[in-house]
Amino acid sequence: MRSRQTVAELSEADAKDELKRLAAQIAEADAAYFRNDDPILTDAEYDELRKRNLDLESRFPHLKRYDSPTERVGIVVADGFQKAEHGKPMLSLDNAFSREDVEDFVQRIRRFLGLGTDEEVSLTSEPKIDGLSLNLTYQRGKLVQAATRGDGRIGEDVTANALMVEDVPEKLGGSKWPDEIEVRGEVYMSHKAFAALNEAERAVGRKGFANPRNAAAGSLRQLDANITKERPLNFFAYAWGAVSEPFATSQSEALSRFAEWGFRTNPLFSVAATVDALIAQYHEIERLRAELEYDIDGVVYKVDRLDWQNRLGQVSRAPRWAIAHKFPAEKAVTRLEAIDIQVGRTGSLTPVARLTPVTVGGVVVSNATLHNEDEIARLDVRVGDQVRIQRAGDVIPQILEVIDTDREGRTAPFVMPERCPECGSEAVRDTDESGQEDVRRRCTGGLICPAQIIARLRHFVSRKALDIDGLGAKQVELFYQQRVVLAPQHIFQLSTRIAELNLPPLSEWEGFGETSANKLLASIDSRRRVEMPRFLNALGIRHVGEITAGVLSRSFGNWRDFWAAVQQAANGHNEAREALLAIDGIGETAVDSLIAFAHERHNQDMLSALLNEIDILDAELPQIDSPVSGQTVVFTGTLETMTRDEAKARAVSLGAKVSGSVSAKTDIVIAGPGAGSKLKKAESLGVRVMTEQEWLEFIRGD
Ligand code: IVH
Repeated sequence: MRSRQTVAELSEADAKDELKRLAAQIAEADAAYFRNDDPILTDAEYDELRKRNLDLESRFPHLKRYDSPTERVGIVVADGFQKAEHGKPMLSLDNAFSREDVEDFVQRIRRFLGLGTDEEVSLTSEPKIDGLSLNLTYQRGKLVQAATRGDGRIGEDVTANALMVEDVPEKLGGSKWPDEIEVRGEVYMSHKAFAALNEAERAVGRKGFANPRNAAAGSLRQLDANITKERPLNFFAYAWGAVSEPFATSQSEALSRFAEWGFRTNPLFSVAATVDALIAQYHEIERLRAELEYDIDGVVYKVDRLDWQNRLGQVSRAPRWAIAHKFPAEKAVTRLEAIDIQVGRTGSLTPVARLTPVTVGGVVVSNATLHNEDEIARLDVRVGDQVRIQRAGDVIPQILEVIDTDREGRTAPFVMPERCPECGSEAVRDTDESGQEDVRRRCTGGLICPAQIIARLRHFVSRKALDIDGLGAKQVELFYQQRVVLAPQHIFQLSTRIAELNLPPLSEWEGFGETSANKLLASIDSRRRVEMPRFLNALGIRHVGEITAGVLSRSFGNWRDFWAAVQQAANGHNEAREALLAIDGIGETAVDSLIAFAHERHNQDMLSALLNEIDILDAELPQIDSPVSGQTVVFTGTLETMTRDEAKARAVSLGAKVSGSVSAKTDIVIAGPGAGSKLKKAESLGVRVMTEQEWLEFIRGD
């Protein structure tokens, strides 16, 4: 190493150079250590580099680099893990925020199951642990795989790391466990372990983790399991996925089994049969919250009877039989420094509050949404005000109120611009048919507004859309500015367009290099075959988001049929429009929006250009072995043994498509007493008609 000047002696120019060199050296050392498991520096050398970097940054804070090593928390190399598909999807939970929400939840369950008023519904309650969920697969009592949640269907294989977690048994104890079972629960870091870890991190000049949850995630997703070993993690078991045979009849019994097999289950678990008792338990857990050695953010209620859980099933990604009753959002006071305007992909102008950074519930908050101009007027919030903000879970922080309204010398009220700050086009508030003014102001620039184009491109490649690794906000903006990517199809023509524009090859661009350029091109190529729901969501059609895209994909099964129907509807074929509307979960707004999209010439051009580049995979219809799989069914009239909701849900879970209207495409009509026009239509079209009883026998395979 060169003999060095002390930090105090360095000129600003030298400090700048050295910070650059240090960032590169530390990144290289990190990669060698974490990625390749082959350190190129001793620990002492490494720590010295970090210390020097920290000292330089303290003396010259304004020279701190965007890629400063102090800003990086450990190293998470997500692409270093194998993917692992869960036997059953890992679900999320709907939220309740009040007693009324809990009452509604219980009412919905009663209605769905068609329970009489005298029938009790027992529900379990337990803390909602603020960690990360883990899926442990056991075969013949031995742990064979541990996987993170990932997107719910596919996670990352972290088996080696999970084995370092004390509460994760490598072999199940007791007996009577199913041959194969996925045991699920939450990995977390205790407050004590978190404090110790951060102290150690800071001692070597690293920034430390913002909260125990991030620390747990960072530790579990270490490529080097030895590092996980040094960071104590804990695990509570609370759920399961695929099982080879039933092992309990209630949630509480299942947890007792888990405990017998050697898992830790939460001691605050209890069962109650009334909303009053649930709420009492909620308050009890809330009272104990501060004393617990781990973070919790609410209480989870689950229907205790498993036969009922099965009947209730799930809606999109959350079970009908469970809900998370969240604790009130955390609040803090800070100063509003400025109001910026963000332009979204549909052109809506959203005012965003820039705040003096403040920690709320373990997370540093420096932005909050102000929604729209009416909201700003309602709050009468002005730049320079002290404001109370709140942050609830993963949602964007909000401003609740101004604290110092009677302060002297407040700035003038904020005025929403009437032109788009990005493209200068007029920004207007639409009025609907009833004369109601939209709360949002929209930029009318459409395709000439760079902010809208960039936001649409970002959406196109985002995680729930095309999910292109390595193509984040920064890259999208860069490619747009260089005129390489102006429309989605250009992403798939990246290299050609770069060459045509006489730009240097990507590997020579700043911030790229050979490896990352190749990686990006490979990840783009890997998305040339894309699932239909992702593609449809990626298009960013208003009112056709992730859920609607999923419903449409499952209903049509492939892009060709779906798009043909939309085009027909756009050409005024009423029957095509009705068929779209008949799909359970699809309403007028979505259909009209699809039609409007299909009308636009530039959208048609974009679609055909895109389809030249990529293949849309046929929707994965659930491979369900049932007599009604793939068939379209319609329920009409009164049902006697179950509610309409349960009937529909059961049909869907057996792979059938449920429609609201009868057409030549209908396979079966289930007609109860009181059936009218739909039954007539079925008869005239020669569609098979069944009674409820016949239907039940049919799906049982009798
Ligand atoms: S049950 C099908 N129970 O919360 C229900 N989840 O918001 C599966 N979580 O992904 C979850 N504590 O990571 C359940 N006692 C608890 C929980 C819990 C924390 C997490 C879990 C899940 C998320 C859903």
